[in-house]
Amino acid sequence: MLYKGKDVRRLSQPLLNQAARRYFSGQAPRLLARGGRRRGRSGEGRRSELRFIGFPAGSRGATRLRMRLSHVLSERLRLRFGPVCTMLRTSFLRLLGRTGASKLSLLEDFGPRYYGSGSLSARDDASDARAYFTTPIFYVNAAPHIGHLYSALLADALCRHRRLRSPSTAATRFSTGTDEHGLKIQQAAATAGLAPTELCDRISEQFQQLFQEAGISCTDFIRTTEARHRVAVQQFWGVLKSRGLLYKGLYEGWYCASDECFLPEAKVTWQPGPSGDSLPVSLESGHPVSWTKEENYIFRLSQFREPLQRWLRGNPQAITPEPFHHVVLQWLDEELPDLSVSRRSSHLHWGIPVPGDDSQTIYVWLDALVNYLTVIGYPNAEFKFWWPATSHIIGKDILKFHAIYWPAFLLGAGMSPPQRIYVHSHWTVCGQKMSKSLGNVVDPRTCLNRYTVDGFRYFLLRQGVPNWDCDYYDEKVVKLLNSELADALGGLLNRCTAKRINPSETYPAFCTNCFPSEPGLVGPSVRAQAEDYALVSAVATLPKRVADHYDNFQIYKALEAVSSCVRQTNGFVQRHAPWKLNWDSPVDAPWLSTVLHVALECLRVFGTLLQPVTPSLADKLLSRLGVSVSERSLGKLYFLPRFYGHPCPFEGRRLGPETGVLFPKLDQSRTWVVKAHRT
Ligand code: MSP
Repeated sequence: MLYKGKDVRRLSQPLLNQAARRYFSGQAPRLLARGGRRRGRSGEGRRSELRFIGFPAGSRGATRLRMRLSHVLSERLRLRFGPVCTMLRTSFLRLLGRTGASKLSLLEDFGPRYYGSGSLSARDDASDARAYFTTPIFYVNAAPHIGHLYSALLADALCRHRRLRSPSTAATRFSTGTDEHGLKIQQAAATAGLAPTELCDRISEQFQQLFQEAGISCTDFIRTTEARHRVAVQQFWGVLKSRGLLYKGLYEGWYCASDECFLPEAKVTWQPGPSGDSLPVSLESGHPVSWTKEENYIFRLSQFREPLQRWLRGNPQAITPEPFHHVVLQWLDEELPDLSVSRRSSHLHWGIPVPGDDSQTIYVWLDALVNYLTVIGYPNAEFKFWWPATSHIIGKDILKFHAIYWPAFLLGAGMSPPQRIYVHSHWTVCGQKMSKSLGNVVDPRTCLNRYTVDGFRYFLLRQGVPNWDCDYYDEKVVKLLNSELADALGGLLNRCTAKRINPSETYPAFCTNCFPSEPGLVGPSVRAQAEDYALVSAVATLPKRVADHYDNFQIYKALEAVSSCVRQTNGFVQRHAPWKLNWDSPVDAPWLSTVLHVALECLRVFGTLLQPVTPSLADKLLSRLGVSVSERSLGKLYFLPRFYGHPCPFEGRRLGPETGVLFPKLDQSRTWVVKAHRT
């Protein structure tokens, strides 16, 4: 069997991976079939193997093979197809290892080319029919800002995409909440002259309102001051204690109340304070630190250095994007000291008492991290349904707590570490860190009002890059939304649905004579050009590309890919200028109808794929196209079926009612930096 003219048994690993990837994305059949025709020369290519690769549509063999492929990694497959299969299987395993979320797509049962989402992944199967997404729980010392909203939006988009992928089979849970204990909150309440509970209620309410307004589709909202959480934390503590992982000892060192963490000497520096004296601050955050010396309970963290290294080395996808995974492994190269996990209650009273020892309060990070278990029912056994099918979405500043402390606590308690940790960077404002003291905090509710919920969701997710910090300013929002949502996407919808161009207000028919499925054919009725085939191919592969970007936590790249296809579709419409074609002309009409059909099909794909990011806008778009709610999942997204010789359920269907512009253009002259909204 040949791939790119080479015997697949002798392919280099990168080429083999490419073959496997292409095979799964549906691009390979023709390439490999070509190899098959030359099988005499290669000395390979038994018919069964050719079919395995070539996927002749509709053949019994193909159906059988497709079924078998749903067990890609099965031994039977290996036995049946011999060495070539073993190599591909190895390659798939490597791909799985490399991509982690590993969404390898299988072709749908409709023909040799990939044109729907139909994405099936090794992890979407039975054992993975559940997915539990979490945001960090937010401190209630101050009102929410756009950075907090961004954390929640990333989780929301991942979760919505997941639901879209497997709406009927998968059980999805999505939790968020507020982190209400600890010195930071105790001090903030004292400064505000409020009882801690009053401050917690007030700010927690603000987070809940914000998330509701922003369409965060959480299934759970937890507050660490709830009774169920206290039970979970104390139980968890008891398990660590019974396993001999907690001991009492003297802790002496620096503590940063703002970051709620202990710091080694090397992480502290001295800076001039307001009155000119030199004050100790955290090197990383710049927040003040104070010297602490007291008897505490200490967790044997040092015992977990090697288990953590093994976990991370064995799960290269555990922390995404990769640079963060690497950073954690680097941290683990150094010594891991034991960790103080309680404070004297006389110093910290606002927290959960150590069971059996009221003189100590449990360290707020241990308290906070256990929220992920409380939500799913811990300590009742029901939590095992969800754990560890967990994806934590966190900001880079809290990586150490989630990637070292938390997995160590879990391992210590006899549980598995979370499946995945997705890490994002921060938003700055005009190049500066957002902070209450600098007065540059951007209020997310003002932004949602100004730019609409969908507009602002789109902006944050389209511009936010997990690997790097991003700078916020209003002009950027206006430019992006006007160009991508109002002009490109809204304009496209308008062009293809306006009454003057589509007087029957129906989903027009596709004419295969005008747009044959084989490029390069010539004939009197053929109108499609090479670029049009490129468009079809780009949109056909879009759902898979988008899914891969979601798996790699690069949502901005998913949106970039959609946006690029929107541009390409506008180019298609511009090229064929349907407004110059005449419905009454028997020559023009089938082509005019085809142009509109293709453009609407593209729009249907865009609308479907945008649902996780801009749910209302996507709903408006899909409703206008007449796509019913049950036709909006990725599993049902069969792009342009007529092109592939299959019936199209939309053809001839009435479009939905016209409900105004898709996204109203923003006034460019009214740009200013949104100032803090103080509580
Ligand atoms: N309470 C802890 C988390 C405990 S989770 C068991 C905490 N809270 S936080 O309110 O300070 O931060 C919550 C999330 O918001 C974190 O993921 C943090 O990275 C994120 N962000 C805070 N400021 C941010 C920006 N400026 N930009 C983007 N995200 C930011 O840490």
